[in-house]
Amino acid sequence: MDRTELLGVAQEAARIGGDILQDWAGRFTSREKSPANLVTEADLASEKAIFEHIHSKYADHRFLGEEGLLREEGNSPYRWIIDPLDGTSNYVHHFPYYAVSIGLECDGEMIVGVIFDPNRDEMFTAIAGEGAKLNDHRIEVSAADELSEAMCMASLPIRTDRDNPAVRRFLDVLEVAQTVQRTGSAALNLCSVASGRIDAFWSTSLMPWDMAAGILIVREGGGKVTTCEGEQFSVHVPNLLSTNGTSLHSELSERLQDIE
Ligand code: IPD
Ligand code: CA
Ligand code: CA
Repeated sequence: MDRTELLGVAQEAARIGGDILQDWAGRFTSREKSPANLVTEADLASEKAIFEHIHSKYADHRFLGEEGLLREEGNSPYRWIIDPLDGTSNYVHHFPYYAVSIGLECDGEMIVGVIFDPNRDEMFTAIAGEGAKLNDHRIEVSAADELSEAMCMASLPIRTDRDNPAVRRFLDVLEVAQTVQRTGSAALNLCSVASGRIDAFWSTSLMPWDMAAGILIVREGGGKVTTCEGEQFSVHVPNLLSTNGTSLHSELSERLQDIE
């Protein structure tokens, strides 16, 4: 199947989702799926429209989406992994840092990734083996190779306690990195690694839809994605370390893996 065509459909779907998010921005209501884990009408409407658009083109493909989307019937090698709104807490507070994330696997391997930031009209894309782009221009990771000069980001679990290893890892790196931030959108953090805006991002609390598109965009931007221990990454395991691929990767991995 033509990957450029698949990417085109993913981009169309991401824009449809992004338009829906912006359309709902002034009038949504939110509720908690679990404590502090929010969902709005916009998440649900975006997921439905993204699914309908892709499904209308590829009726036999499989789907996994955050807001209940699960189509596993058939034996298509293709599976779309969708987060219709990554950064829901930001969205609910009108903090403009959120995105639509759409990844496509073939036989379990990510082949296409799209992340769309509707506030900045930024469309991050990647096709496996063909590089990563931002609004059709090639992007690449930064060159920083020491933690002391690095801008890092981390995602922490919702409502976590101060003794959680994820918090202790954050504090540990805070002592040595130039900057450590927490932003509320894992998908956009991955795009920032891929485009050299930041140097590293890690988390041990993400779901497949938070990471699927982004890890391909990082790799195609020239970056590296492993577990925090430096082992092979899987989208189904919440253990991600993504960097620009310099010696920063092992420097961070050595620190992070020592904290349990
Ligand atoms: C969340 C964001 C956030 C991460 C959370 C995710 P959502 O996704 O990616 O950065 O820290 O773990 O759940 O809920 O806004 O789609
Ligand atoms: Ca998410
Ligand atoms: Ca979401």
